[in-house]
Amino acid sequence: MRIGVLTGGGDCPGLNAVIRAIVRKGESVHGDEILGFIDSWDGVMAQTFIRLDISSMRGLLHKGGTIIGTKRGSPFDHDDGIDRVRRCFDEQRLDGLVVIGGNGSLTVASMIHEQTGLPIVGVPKTIDNDIVGTDVTFGFHTAVQVATDAIDRLHTTAESHNRVIVVEVMGRDAGWIAAYAGIAGGATVILVPEIPLDIADVCEVIERRHHRGRYASIAVVAEGSVPVEGTMPRRDYALDAIGRPRLGGIGVDIAAEIERRTGIEARIVQIGHVQRGGTPTAYDRVLSTRFGLAAIDAVHDGAWGQMVALSGTEIVRVPLEQTVGRIKTVDLELLRDVAPEPIPAATLAQRPGAEKS
Ligand code: F6P
Repeated sequence: MRIGVLTGGGDCPGLNAVIRAIVRKGESVHGDEILGFIDSWDGVMAQTFIRLDISSMRGLLHKGGTIIGTKRGSPFDHDDGIDRVRRCFDEQRLDGLVVIGGNGSLTVASMIHEQTGLPIVGVPKTIDNDIVGTDVTFGFHTAVQVATDAIDRLHTTAESHNRVIVVEVMGRDAGWIAAYAGIAGGATVILVPEIPLDIADVCEVIERRHHRGRYASIAVVAEGSVPVEGTMPRRDYALDAIGRPRLGGIGVDIAAEIERRTGIEARIVQIGHVQRGGTPTAYDRVLSTRFGLAAIDAVHDGAWGQMVALSGTEIVRVPLEQTVGRIKTVDLELLRDVAPEPIPAATLAQRPGAEKS
């Protein structure tokens, strides 16, 4: 078969490991030819690709990023986008396309498959771990480890200076990284987009702790957290290439507000793209490899419109359309049960209709 592969959305540790597994099994077991489309759907529309073979996969298992480039945006942004995708399938004699992407890319993949019948298989990717249908996405474990390592280091400096350190992590719509890194790192406060951010509650928790003689606190905040209306100034974010708010900075506001309200010195650390770059953890290398192998199996089974996924310890297939327009949010019981400081009941009561993992 002639099979295309693309990576879409933000990069993520483990992308190259997925590509490597697809190419190795595709070529060695099935004699497939694999084309890696450059810069996501742009490469499909422009028919720009590189040939991927086993020899070009050397050294990729542990390499972060994606060797075929990635980009946000989709063929639906162009009047002739879908026609160009169809033309690419015809002219390149593609028997199938593997789309490795997050919520946005998988939604686009699902829509193209539904509208055109083109043979597409999905692989869920994102450090945010917010894709419905899979228990875990690859890249998440690495991001959590990077953030946890940072928190471990920040404890000692926070304690030495009796400071609050606010650690801002990624997590646009769901606070999985904040929840896991916060729990693993023993944070005092964990703030996620799933719960409206009440700065008064945050300060109360920190002050309560200080009155007990603990003069340093770590507060972990997901970048997508949103303050309760009227409690703190809301950030005016610039927009990114696809018109979404370019998040980042909520931690700066929280640190300033903590210092203003409690008088306790506060600092801010934004982990930023460090949590998305570099080598994947061993867990993510294994998950990425399993996803890649499952994707090439799905292609050869003609499981079009399906996404490979992790369910418990098993790799399964789920319909791509199951992911469309949905976000897998954090199980708030997890935070309530494990968080070192109780989350105020009033805050939990405001939880939106969250989808459990
Ligand atoms: O991949 C998702 C994500 O990590 C979000 O948490 C974050 O908002 C976004 O990527 C930032 O990506 P970029 O800086 O590439 O726009």
